[in-house]
Amino acid sequence: MSAMDRLGSEQLFHDHQARQRADTFFHNSDRLRFEDAAWLDHETWIRPAFAGLGDVAGLRVLDYGCGHGMATVVLARRGARVTAFDLSAGYLAEARARASANGVSVDFICADGEHLPFADGSFDRVWGNAVLHHLHLGRAARELRRVLRPGGLAVFCEPWGGNPLLNWARARLPYPGKGRTADESPLRPRDLRPLRQVFPRMALCGFQLLSMIRRVLRPGRLTSSLERFDARLLRAFPALQRFCRYVVLTLPR
Ligand SMILES: C[S@@+](CC[C@H](N)C(=O)[O-])C[C@H]1O[C@@H](n2cnc3c(N)ncnc32)[C@H](O)[C@@H]1O
Repeated sequence: MSAMDRLGSEQLFHDHQARQRADTFFHNSDRLRFEDAAWLDHETWIRPAFAGLGDVAGLRVLDYGCGHGMATVVLARRGARVTAFDLSAGYLAEARARASANGVSVDFICADGEHLPFADGSFDRVWGNAVLHHLHLGRAARELRRVLRPGGLAVFCEPWGGNPLLNWARARLPYPGKGRTADESPLRPRDLRPLRQVFPRMALCGFQLLSMIRRVLRPGRLTSSLERFDARLLRAFPALQRFCRYVVLTLPR
């Protein structure tokens, strides 16, 4: 599939998803308002990954592939000067409506992560969740480095494909919220090579080893205990990060 076909099908898929969501959100703008904690705690990697950005007050921050725009709003509420982009006009419309419902001001732009319409060194921080695994990583990494100022930092949370059993389950088992585009694929250790070439100081941290059971069980006492157990296990045996569900990549420029 050519790069243009891939972008077109990503755009169609996400515009379609955004149209389905629009029925819920646009007829009830109360549902666009939210507390930071509701988003920071919706997955276990979000809060620690977000903390990795440090204090963003007054910084120029890019929300990369902003989708529904919840991170965009949280960044703006923390005093960042936020620019947010996405390939999908439908998701951008939802993100704009969410920013407005939550009373924050943000620059929204429709753009492709592999060809960013920003000058060199435009941002102090870049945030992205579940987006790099949709892109050509070599092109995305070069653009990312270009728009980050020297000394700047990017943090991305991405589905991780280092666990063969989990890959089998992702491919074969039905579970809620499983919609995927044809081209996205959880990042495997070897996919990180082009990122590491451009960001040699890249650091990686895995989340949800046993606690990935959360994906099918409602969070409760069992999942919380497994999360605590995971944290201890991953500290003692860092090599197990390879088998986690998600990975947080920290990319210092
Ligand atoms: C799984 S969603 C994640 C959205 C959001 N970051 C979040 O936390 O929910 C992936 C997003 O990446 C966007 N996307 C896919 N390919 C892209 C590209 N080449 N450039 C910019 N955005 C892209 C999609 O439109 C979609 O909004």
